Amino acid sequence: MRERDAIESVAVVGAGTMGSGIAQVVGTAGYDVIMRDIDQERVEEGFDTIDDSLSRLVDSETLTEGQATAARDRITGTTAMADLTGCDMAIEAAVESMEIKRDIFAELDDTLDEEVVLATNTSTLSVTTIASATDRPARVVGLHFMNPVPVMKGVEIVVGEKTARETVDFADEFAMGLGKETWESDDKPGFVSNRILMPWINEGIRAYDEGVASKEDIDRGMKLGTNVPMGPLELADHVGLDICLDATETLHEELGDRYKPAYLLKRKVAAGDLGKKTGEGFYEYD
Ligand code: CAA
Repeated sequence: MRERDAIESVAVVGAGTMGSGIAQVVGTAGYDVIMRDIDQERVEEGFDTIDDSLSRLVDSETLTEGQATAARDRITGTTAMADLTGCDMAIEAAVESMEIKRDIFAELDDTLDEEVVLATNTSTLSVTTIASATDRPARVVGLHFMNPVPVMKGVEIVVGEKTARETVDFADEFAMGLGKETWESDDKPGFVSNRILMPWINEGIRAYDEGVASKEDIDRGMKLGTNVPMGPLELADHVGLDICLDATETLHEELGDRYKPAYLLKRKVAAGDLGKKTGEGFYEYD
């Protein structure tokens, strides 16, 4: 397996919220990054997100202008999988579809040297099933970043059925080298994070739908009562209601009725009210 010290260039597959955030923190840590998405428009949107985030970090004096410019200069974009040839590591952050992720992993397996570690940012799908699309399941691991990636400290390391211990150690050291802190989860539905977070969000939505309290009081109650930065409805809007529904449906399928998605969550997604990104979820946004 490639040593972590020998890593110079990292491929990031997907330029959405998570992919662009990952590209940004990897670039900031000093690696060359190639961020790949399926069309140029998505790649450009990824760079817009990175530019916006880097300038917030400069404004808050977390980064200097020089560090932000250097990070930005290390990140290039592409739509061609072949451009990832020669990368020393890959992190996939595409949509949460098993079929798409397996296709991407099969392509990465063909494109990158066999000792290269392939990581997936999946939030609920089985790392073991994704890994089985490759001939290197021992070098496939979950590297689950939290949103917003540049700000959130935590990264969940997900250990697939065939993931080698040295791959887990590599992923752990790599994440810590990005300034993150990690925890390990077995490859069980939702891992640690979403197995616990998604029912919390789902129950918040149900409580609102069933008239337990106003949406503001549910969020205030959880913030004041448990010292979390966002209540369940605010957090659902932040993550994206479509992503919450997808994750909850996966948990429901795998773990049964205790994960049944709230009716209101389904109704909002059906109406296209997906949270901040569409201007309306449980709250309205400019
Ligand atoms: N890039 C750079 N800086 C950012 C940023 C970004 N994308 N987002 C926020 N910031 C910075 C702000 O500029 C601000 O900096 P200063 O304090 O220096 O001014 C700081 O972060 C705080 O931001 P805000 O003042 O806007 O608002 P806030 O205090 O509410 O913090 C938050 C925002 C960091 C998102 C905070 O509300 C929070 O931690 N929320 C919980 C997020 C969370 O739980 N994420 C995990 C979701 S689950 C997941 O991701 C897993 C999954 O699989 C679905």
